[in-house]
Amino acid sequence: MSRIVYVNGEYLPEEDAKISVFDRGFIFADGIYEVSAVLGGKLVDCEAHLARLERSCGEINLPLPWSRAELVAIHEEMIKRNALDEGGVYLQVTRGAADRDFPFPKDAKPTLVLFTQARNYVNAPTVKTGIKVVTFPDLRWERRDIKSVGLLGQVLAKQYAAEQGANDAWLVEDGVVTEGASATAWIVKGKTLISRPLSNKVLPGITRKAVLAFLAETDFTFEERTFTLEEALDAEEAFITSATAFVMPVTTLDGHTIHNGAPGPTTLRLREIYVDFARKGGVLG
Ligand code: PDD
Repeated sequence: MSRIVYVNGEYLPEEDAKISVFDRGFIFADGIYEVSAVLGGKLVDCEAHLARLERSCGEINLPLPWSRAELVAIHEEMIKRNALDEGGVYLQVTRGAADRDFPFPKDAKPTLVLFTQARNYVNAPTVKTGIKVVTFPDLRWERRDIKSVGLLGQVLAKQYAAEQGANDAWLVEDGVVTEGASATAWIVKGKTLISRPLSNKVLPGITRKAVLAFLAETDFTFEERTFTLEEALDAEEAFITSATAFVMPVTTLDGHTIHNGAPGPTTLRLREIYVDFARKGGVLG
């Protein structure tokens, strides 16, 4: 069965869903995206993703002529039309189609596209084994806090990981881990979780924010600071968070085994709390 894709107000079979070759998303990567998880047919923390979308668009002066309620309604309609139980909804908004010229076009209308991807998040096989991660130089631009569709740095990192037989890549700059190629990176020492502060260097993860909100339910503490690759190789546990991985153990980093190659108890406890939260629709109280 073909998926239904949303393009500029229409719900179309994917083979009929088309945008202009002059779209600035295609020509300049002049656009923003979001990925929201769906569990049991319900969106997880969608409002937070839409708040980040609004911020990203604001940072590049990209008009977003849809209200938050309209965007939620389109997401929900996509879940319904695609009978999506578990997976994600991808949204992309671009500055629209115009003849190729670098400055913003005067009269282009933003392009809005959404599609769904069915995925097994809760019972992903990697939850039992943990994932293998390799590091790659962080080649990205300076505004990584904007969820831009310009993802070549991430594509090259993840391709390198795939070629190494790894599941994912962590990006490293001046010996420091910035983040995962499409996730927030964390290490654990004792009862302390370590992840770097938010800045222009990293995407402010929605899953990161939720995990931090749950710490009150645990006896874990949070140390917000950068960590080096050396420190990560020596960590007791490591994990990533994202809308597509939830909380996922990292058991191998650059060929070094972490936590004897098995998911650690802190990571698994956080994952359990997160999955429970996601099942309930993922709205922070
Ligand atoms: N990526 N850092 C980067 C560079 C990311 O691309 C992502 C998400 C995250 C985690 O953000 P969140 O917890 O809000 O998903 C951190 C999405 C899933 C993607 O590109 O597919």
